[in-house]
Amino acid sequence: MTTRDQNELLTRTGPGSAMGALFRRYWLPVFMASELPEPDCPPVRVSVLSEKLVAFRNSAGRVGIVDEFCAHRGASLWFARNEEGGLRCAYHGWKYDVTGQCVEVPSEPAETGYCKSIKLVSYPVIERGDVVWIYMGPAEHRPPAPEFEWTTVPAGHRFVSRRVQESNYLQAMEGGIDSVHLSFLHRGDLRSDPLHAGSKGSDYASSTDGRFEVVETPGGMVIGVRRPADPGFLYWRITQWIMPSFTMIPPYGKNALNGHVWVPIDDETCMTWNFTHHPTRALTQAELEVMRSGGGNHPALIHGTFRPIANRDNDYLIDRAAQKAGATFSGVKGIAMQDAAIQESMGAIQDRTREHLVSTDNAVILARRRLARAALALREGMAPDAIEPATHRVRSAALVLPEGVPFYEAAAEALKVTEGAEQASV
Ligand code: FES
Ligand SMILES: [Fe+2]
Repeated sequence: MTTRDQNELLTRTGPGSAMGALFRRYWLPVFMASELPEPDCPPVRVSVLSEKLVAFRNSAGRVGIVDEFCAHRGASLWFARNEEGGLRCAYHGWKYDVTGQCVEVPSEPAETGYCKSIKLVSYPVIERGDVVWIYMGPAEHRPPAPEFEWTTVPAGHRFVSRRVQESNYLQAMEGGIDSVHLSFLHRGDLRSDPLHAGSKGSDYASSTDGRFEVVETPGGMVIGVRRPADPGFLYWRITQWIMPSFTMIPPYGKNALNGHVWVPIDDETCMTWNFTHHPTRALTQAELEVMRSGGGNHPALIHGTFRPIANRDNDYLIDRAAQKAGATFSGVKGIAMQDAAIQESMGAIQDRTREHLVSTDNAVILARRRLARAALALREGMAPDAIEPATHRVRSAALVLPEGVPFYEAAAEALKVTEGAEQASV
């Protein structure tokens, strides 16, 4: 059973919290590089781990992420002018560079050097895989750049999107490692969604007779779920979970691979990132159009925002007739929004003291344990796992194996990134 204290430990990620300190030891994706398309373009707001920040691309093309609020009297720098190598507050014109250093206070004589004494909080950034990543931890522990396969394939092989989820990150992430829900919640879509259909796996995955086996790995764990395939064989869906909140979803046939990461915005909202990539080919126009119009794991968003069109305020556009007819199991359209609707329905922070876990929740139990252990160990000075980029160079897989064959050993090669090789998938 999860106690109130354990739930607090797992779900609180603001400054000073143990889990927040753990998240601050990783590079975290915060916005799409295309949101800052050119030097001196308008800044974007960045809310992450309960800190409010603003990002801008300076005249030289360099991206900076600094405290959102001006050191003078606290105006939001989202309103600032991005010009001549810095961000100039729209209120009284104080100006900051990408490191947060104040470089001009127009009201003070330059010779006083007053501006040198003013510096905003700022964080290191990198651009990788069309995404801007932030590192908010101690400078001496800054890890090398992440190497998830979706970040290293050519740009045409990849499609990335993000949406705001109105729940704590943990219950969202727990959905990502709970492979049993797809036989219920996503049942209709496995056969109809163009990015999932057309594989034997999408037929086998509909079986509700799923058994879990979980194996801990250096970066997190692999979750093998087996379902009956042809007589004498089992269909294995093997998910990767990588600390602190990355997942790789098992593929369906030759369709592109999918993954997520959940990044806390604050304790009651998170950013759900969706990655689709193919290791050996560019995504087709048809695939890109599906994803841009809210198919696959990518949601349709309200223009100019990251809030889905189907959201809490309109009951996720639930269609009870489609639910009754079995076109969708929940009445909600699209895999992304099915997950969002259900996970947001659990309350902003799920009260885990009231749940009843069963054997198919093994991955959820282990992930919680691993996160809690890592957060507490960090307080004692022990470095967390999955800092090493080698732990990112893994894949999910979907295999048919003879009954009795241990999945982890049989899938050893399939679970590695092999340059130029397709995913192992049925
Ligand atoms: S509040 Fe920003 S310059 Fe005054
Ligand atoms: Fe799901």
